[in-house]
Amino acid sequence: MTMMRKLHLSVGVLALSSGMATAQEVEVLHWWTSGGEAAAVGTLRDTLAEGGITWQDMPVAGGGGSDAMTVLRARVTAGNPPTAVQMLGFSIQDWAAEGALANLDDLAAEQGWGDVVPEALQAFSTYDGSWVAAPVNVHSTNWVWANTAVMADLGLEQPESWDDFVAAMQAAQDAGLTALAHGGQAWQDATMFDSMVMGVGGPEFYQASMVDLDPDALGSDTMVEVFQRMETLRGFVDDNFSGRDWNLATAMVINGDALFQIMGDWAKGEFVAAGMTAGEEFTCFRVPGTEGTVTFNSDQFAMFNVSDASAQEAQMAMASAVLSPEFQVTFNLVKGSVPARTDIDSSDFDMCGQMGMAQLAEAAEAGGLFGSMAHGHANTPSVQNAMYDVITAHFNGEFDAETAAAEMVTAVELAQ
Ligand code: GAL
Repeated sequence: MTMMRKLHLSVGVLALSSGMATAQEVEVLHWWTSGGEAAAVGTLRDTLAEGGITWQDMPVAGGGGSDAMTVLRARVTAGNPPTAVQMLGFSIQDWAAEGALANLDDLAAEQGWGDVVPEALQAFSTYDGSWVAAPVNVHSTNWVWANTAVMADLGLEQPESWDDFVAAMQAAQDAGLTALAHGGQAWQDATMFDSMVMGVGGPEFYQASMVDLDPDALGSDTMVEVFQRMETLRGFVDDNFSGRDWNLATAMVINGDALFQIMGDWAKGEFVAAGMTAGEEFTCFRVPGTEGTVTFNSDQFAMFNVSDASAQEAQMAMASAVLSPEFQVTFNLVKGSVPARTDIDSSDFDMCGQMGMAQLAEAAEAGGLFGSMAHGHANTPSVQNAMYDVITAHFNGEFDAETAAAEMVTAVELAQ
């Protein structure tokens, strides 16, 4: 029996057993609009269609999801929430605290989610001991993506240290290429910042500054050095970086116009969509200095409270499909992320996916797994936005590194 067919049956059985009488539909709000992301959405839409559930698409472009969250707030305020919403970390907790999310406990118990979803994810999928979201993946932000032909042309090996990494970018720049493909949007600046904090300060500093929000750490010399590394990166982006979407930056690496991109593994979805293979036409490695650690984010689907019984059944069928082992493989191969379950075999995954799965498990074991600040898993949305503002203002030359560290202390204090 094929994977799709098995899933079809399980979603269908769920629909039947709950007495499906009318056509079921889910309206899904998400921000998966790039080529790789859209392909991943397609796998979910097709899977649900096999179970007789119609997908009403509500895409809100904008990596990192800030714009999607603004639209969501407006929809809920107008009394018209979407049935299912892609959501990250602390946003899930905020909506659950408002009492807006459907309880998934019965389904979770029936399917044993508690035994297979990693604890670091459960911290966000559950609120007050109840399941309020179904995780579809684990992404991580501390990756570098590279075009292997460009590396070979420049005579470069994979950089093993921060100095090597800078030297490689210098070689690309000297050869007239863009060394670092980047889009100047606050969330992309913050995505690189995650790795600079981890790379300069290590896990304890990441915890103290990004998670515990310790003012001494936020304003420290270590933080000044973090901002200095951001200045180094700034020196390697091209003149047109401002406002560029992340997937267009990935395309620069794909096309051989740029050497590296520092980005979460959703970038892999773009390489795969372009027909490239990990370990052949492109490669991935951890941002030098962050090896052994993983800064993660997990896309989850939260179901908003709705009164219509058929809509509720469709929500449960969707949550069930999202966490099914077969679907976790199908989806994550396309998305670039790794499964949100610990019981999935990695053999179907490519080199980067296998590294991602092994490193996630190792980091979790060794205390090296941390929520990504840039993607809403280290602190609340208001603190995250305050950090974004400082990071972006600094990246665009408004502050020097010392001022930026001092501004972090003030901005975070005001946001709490
Ligand atoms: C992240 C999200 C990923 C990817 C990325 C760029 O926040 O977790 O799934 O979509 O944004 O859009």
